[in-house]
Parts: sequence; C-alpha cells; structure tokens
Amino acid sequence: MRTGYWVWSRRLDAATAALSRSDYKATWHALSERESDAKMFVASEVDEAKFTASADLTLATLDEFVGVRPTDVVLEIGCGVGRVGRVIAPRCREWIGTDISAHMLTHAARRLADLPNVRFVELPTVGLDGIPDASVDLVYCTVVFMHLYEWDRYRYVQEAFRVLRPGGRCYFDNIDISSGHGWKVFNDAASYPIAQRPPYLPMTSSAPEFETYGRHAGFSRVVVHRWADAWVALTGVKP
Ligand SMILES: C[S@@+](CC[C@H](N)C(=O)[O-])C[C@H]1O[C@@H](n2cnc3c(N)ncnc32)[C@H](O)[C@@H]1O
Repeated sequence: MRTGYWVWSRRLDAATAALSRSDYKATWHALSERESDAKMFVASEVDEAKFTASADLTLATLDEFVGVRPTDVVLEIGCGVGRVGRVIAPRCREWIGTDISAHMLTHAARRLADLPNVRFVELPTVGLDGIPDASVDLVYCTVVFMHLYEWDRYRYVQEAFRVLRPGGRCYFDNIDISSGHGWKVFNDAASYPIAQRPPYLPMTSSAPEFETYGRHAGFSRVVVHRWADAWVALTGVKP
C-alpha cells in the first residue's frame, strides 16, 4: 500500500502532467510553491521535529563518510528548503545552498534567515553555473539523484570536481536498486502506466554506476557505500 509521499504527490500531478523528466526547473517550481508541499517532496514529512531529526541523520552520514570541518566551505546541490543546511551551517565556515527551483530557495532563505554564514544560488540548468573553480571544500548532494537522468547525475559529479579545491571531498547518494527498499521503489515506479509517469518519479542507482562516475570525473579515493538495505553513496577526494 502506498502512503505518505506517494499519496501526497497525487495532489500535484496535474501541475506537472505536461512536463518531461528533463524539465527540472518547471517541475520543481510547481511542486514547491507552498512550503508544506515543498517539505513533503523534500523529505516526505511536514512535522518540524521529524524534519529536523531526518536532517540530523543526513549530517551523521556526512560526518561518517566525508567529515564536516569548521574551516570548510560547504556546497549542497539541490538544497530544497534547507533541511540539511540548517544543521550543517553551524558546523562549517560557509554553507552555499544551490537548487534549480526558485520557490525552494525562497523557502530555504526564510527558514535559515537567522544563520549568518549561508547563501543561496539558483541554478539556471544542470550544472553549478556561478560557482567558481576550486572554491569549495565539500560538495554534497542528497535525495536528488533519484529525480535526475543518469547524464545529469554525472554532470553534477563533474561539476563537483570542478568547484572543489584540491583535497576537497564529495558525497552523492541515491536509493540502491540492489537493496530491499530500492527494489520496492523500483517496482512502485514501474507500476505507473507509461503515459502517466510523473516527471519526478524516483529512479534508483547502483554501486557500479556510482563507482564509474567517481572514477571518470577524476576523483581519487573513490568509495561506494551501501547501508540500511536502502542507500548507496559515492564519496571521493579531488587530487
Ligand atoms: C527531494 S528534494 C531534496 C532536497 C534536499 N537535498 C534535502 O535532502 O532536504 C530534491 C531537490 O532537488 C532539486 N532539484 C531537482 N532537479 C534538480 C536539478 N536538475 N538541479 C538541481 N537541483 C534539482 C529540487 O528542486 C529539490 O529541492
């Protein structure tokens, strides 16, 4: 039985019905006009306490796999309403939230207005336009790749490499198709009639896919992590 995100997302099907999966900006703009919708599409949750608890879990994962240091300039690709930025900004020098959706960034800017070391960049298209080369210490991207085509996932891995300083670290995650949860997500999505697939329908990743991206983008110390019978993540260091 489908609950939560799946049921909620039906409400906005009409707003995205005419869009293709590549129409990222229009899709996510439509899904995030209201903050409650934006939060639901970001983390399947509107309750603030549970929303923050989910961000603490993401921070713990980043701490374990790549570390977050007080001297770091940290950039998030697809930051949504700033769920993770809220808990990371107090732990780093500067936090830069980037997203394709102006609505998401408006919510994020309001929700993080009390934090002095945050700034926001609206991305015109796939890529980190406006972020200078070698200017960031940690790039992370969480719960975004399931909404992107593979080519666009890889483009962001390449862009992370470009904007990282030598020694900078990256982290990208997605739902792992080889996990129990991932196989359920895959089959839930497969059950949609082809003509009715919403443009944001989640698509899984695999460990070989992530290892391939990391290696071809030029990262060293490429590691693929799998955990909780659900997730796969790529980490690497720019030489
Ligand atoms: C499920 S939300 C996750 C938000 C945030 N990372 C979090 O974990 O709270 C996916 C986010 O990716 C953004 N997004 C979708 N397509 C994108 C693209 N091509 N480039 C950058 N961001 C994108 C959406 O606007 C949305 O904010």
